[in-house]
Amino acid sequence: MIGKICGTGSYIPSLVWDNEKLAQLVETDDEWIRERTGIARRHLIDGEETTSYMAAQAAGEALKDAGVRPEEVDLIVVATMSSQNIMPCTACEVQKVIGAVNAACFDLNAACTGFLFALNTAQAYIGQGIYKTAIVIGTESLSNMVNWDDRSTCILFGDGAGAVVLKASEDGKYSQVTYSDGSRGDVLTCSSRNQKKFEDEPRDESTYMQMDGGEVFKFAVSKVPEAVRELLDKEQMTTEEVSYYILHQANVRIVRSVAKRLGEKAEKFPTNMEEYGNTSSASIPILLDELNKKKTFQNGDFIVLSGFGGGLTYGASLIRW
Ligand code: UT7
Repeated sequence: MIGKICGTGSYIPSLVWDNEKLAQLVETDDEWIRERTGIARRHLIDGEETTSYMAAQAAGEALKDAGVRPEEVDLIVVATMSSQNIMPCTACEVQKVIGAVNAACFDLNAACTGFLFALNTAQAYIGQGIYKTAIVIGTESLSNMVNWDDRSTCILFGDGAGAVVLKASEDGKYSQVTYSDGSRGDVLTCSSRNQKKFEDEPRDESTYMQMDGGEVFKFAVSKVPEAVRELLDKEQMTTEEVSYYILHQANVRIVRSVAKRLGEKAEKFPTNMEEYGNTSSASIPILLDELNKKKTFQNGDFIVLSGFGGGLTYGASLIRW
């Protein structure tokens, strides 16, 4: 038994900061950001929008797309590192909003690889026959963790949420590899939670994300192809059999480099970081939702999802559409 994706949804906040806006905050320019990252704009939470608000909107849309009623949902797993509250968890807040009264709900945090870990968790429950219907969500308000005076990080990140509905099915495919290297945790850190709105000053330095961008870049371009190859070897598949690779949307140069290292065409690697920047655990489900809505995938397509990020963590999953 596997959990087949039968619906997707996403929520993108409407406040947009383009590269020109950032050039007013720090010493940077549109050309540098586009060339080095592929990012042109990012969407940020505003007003009443929060991490759980976005998650609930994305989940509601995914349920509608799947034609599943909220009461049918057995499990909600939310991947996030930017929940506005420590307790209750974001998944419980989503449950309350969407009325998934029968669901068991919890959050997990594996930074930008979070969605894959959450998907694995839901697949394990479904595979064991414990649950039949699950919602898996990636949701982030990274604007609350970004130092908007630090040009080496603020250009990269954005806010948003994406969700998928899984239904137990005999037909389909799920396989995964995931890894963590805690010894390299200092490469990407944020040591305490920001409880203020992201524009409010003054802020405690510990609430800002710190990153060694070069190290993360090198880690991603070596480990992502390694994970994908291991996954395909395990399934005795070749890269030619994969229709699409949905990678964590951190930097277009990382995506291109992974494509090259796998000997694959860039067209098999759709991207949307130009519009949203890096939304961490939300980036894979947001892109999945966009492509699903565009009817990009055909029934039976093999799709590889791959993420990497803080922890350090990384992994790849194979699904059959
Ligand atoms: O989800 C995982 C999260 N993190 C990532 O995925 C990050 C992965 N890493 C990256 O995407 C890239 O390393 C960055 C985009 C962060 C940086 O790109 P880079 O090509 O590695 O640039 P760099 O840090 O080597 O900096 C090159 C130059 C430096 O100037 P000098 O020392 O050569 O004079 C920087 O000071 O570019 C300068 N620089 C900037 N210039 C204009 C750094 N940031 C900026 C900026 N605007 N925003």
